[in-house]
Amino acid sequence: LVASMVEVEESYIMIKPDGVQRGLVGEIISRFEKKGIKLKGLKLYQCPTELAQDNEHYKDLQSKSFFPNLIDYITSGPVVCMAWEGVGVVASARKLIGATNPLNAEPGTIRGDLAVQTGRNVVHGSDSPENGNREIALWFKEGEVVEWTPVQEPWLK
Ligand code: TYD
Repeated sequence: LVASMVEVEESYIMIKPDGVQRGLVGEIISRFEKKGIKLKGLKLYQCPTELAQDNEHYKDLQSKSFFPNLIDYITSGPVVCMAWEGVGVVASARKLIGATNPLNAEPGTIRGDLAVQTGRNVVHGSDSPENGNREIALWFKEGEVVEWTPVQEPWLK
């Protein structure tokens, strides 16, 4: 076997307003925790329109017909912003999340299990390591992302 080239990366994962409104926050965080990746940042946040819209988070989608609806949706209520770190985390998080259109998402994925519409697909995940870094810098302020090393302790006795 060729040695794996997959590196430690960070991914920006966000529970969208429908996930918060539907009470799915714990369920969604739990899936990433159980996978074994490391949580580095976590906050509930009301996204300002400028952050969603003005050449920032969704800058590649500005010309799309669904863009105004997407901005309305993302800013309609609080989101949960998360930074997750791990080997190959960008691709593995997108596998956990499933296809953009929840009707095409496999059972067992977050969207496959919990969502129906593309425009209400409960969670965002970065699509490249570069965007992972960019989006975490965009959504979190200095000091909100915590670097930490897991320790081996008998937490439960
Ligand atoms: P995209 O980056 O293509 O998908 P993903 O979230 O899986 O990386 O699109 C970003 C979001 O835009 C998507 O999660 C939901 C919304 N969207 C629509 O509302 N309609 C569409 O036809 C597409 C492609 C996306």
